[in-house]
Amino acid sequence: MKTSTRLFAFTCIVLVAGTVHAAELGPAAKAIVDSRCSLCHGSQGESASAVYPRLAAQHPDYLVKQLKDFRDGRRKSDTMSDMAKDLDDEVIADLAAWFSSRPAGVRRGGDADLAGVGKYIFAKGNKFSGVAACASCHGEKGYGTQQLPRLAGQHPAYLETQLKEFGKRERNNDNAIMHSIASKLTELEMNAVAAFIGGQQ
Ligand code: HEC
Ligand code: HEC
Repeated sequence: MKTSTRLFAFTCIVLVAGTVHAAELGPAAKAIVDSRCSLCHGSQGESASAVYPRLAAQHPDYLVKQLKDFRDGRRKSDTMSDMAKDLDDEVIADLAAWFSSRPAGVRRGGDADLAGVGKYIFAKGNKFSGVAACASCHGEKGYGTQQLPRLAGQHPAYLETQLKEFGKRERNNDNAIMHSIASKLTELEMNAVAAFIGGQQ
């Protein structure tokens, strides 16, 4: 076997092993997904209702951080503080690995005119009000990075709530950056950017 072929075969094995590992939800975490998380986020992280964020395909480090922030009171949420209060670090890591390994479902675009305005803001920001382009941090396609959340395909209603909460400093875990951005967005811009992002695959 040529080195490149061997390397390819090795990479495939590692990728498959990685998937299998993430899909093997430990018994403690599985019981929690079945009895709790799935009620709102779905067992595959593809939340049925737009007020519950999609967890599927979200970055594991971001999910870990958010769950710890809910548990330790850094991110305020009546619902999620209660859900996360008894989760230990190991179960949190398991839950994050599980949901991030779930594939992102297909999205349909909404109002094309509104999404067009959102696309502009996402790619270029608003130089008149000093809003930075979302793409500069969350990536051209909204896929985020290990530390920065994936936005592509997230439910618009959830996105809008988060933008409003960042703007008012009601979501205040690490929100220095997002506060300065969201506080400059008008309601129309929030609506438009959420409509655009929600339709991205
Ligand atoms: C009763 C409904 C409900 C249940 C059950 C629930 N969640 Fe949530 N979850 C929410 C809501 C609502 C939010 C949005 C946060 C907010 O604004 O309150 C959220 C937010 C989150 C976030 C943040 C996502 C992001 O993009 O920042 C994570 C992670 C999360 N939930 C994980 C879980 C896990 C893991 C479980 C199971 C232990 C769970 N949730 C159970 C309703 C629920
Ligand atoms: C300078 C970098 C930067 C820019 C530019 C930026 N963001 Fe963010 N954004 C962040 C960081 C960092 C977080 C994570 C905050 C945390 O850990 O809680 C975040 C989080 C978010 C969240 C929460 C996601 C979730 O799953 O709860 C939304 C929504 C969001 N950003 C939307 C936007 C939009 C829309 C724009 C453009 C108008 C934008 N961001 C521009 C850095 C940025």
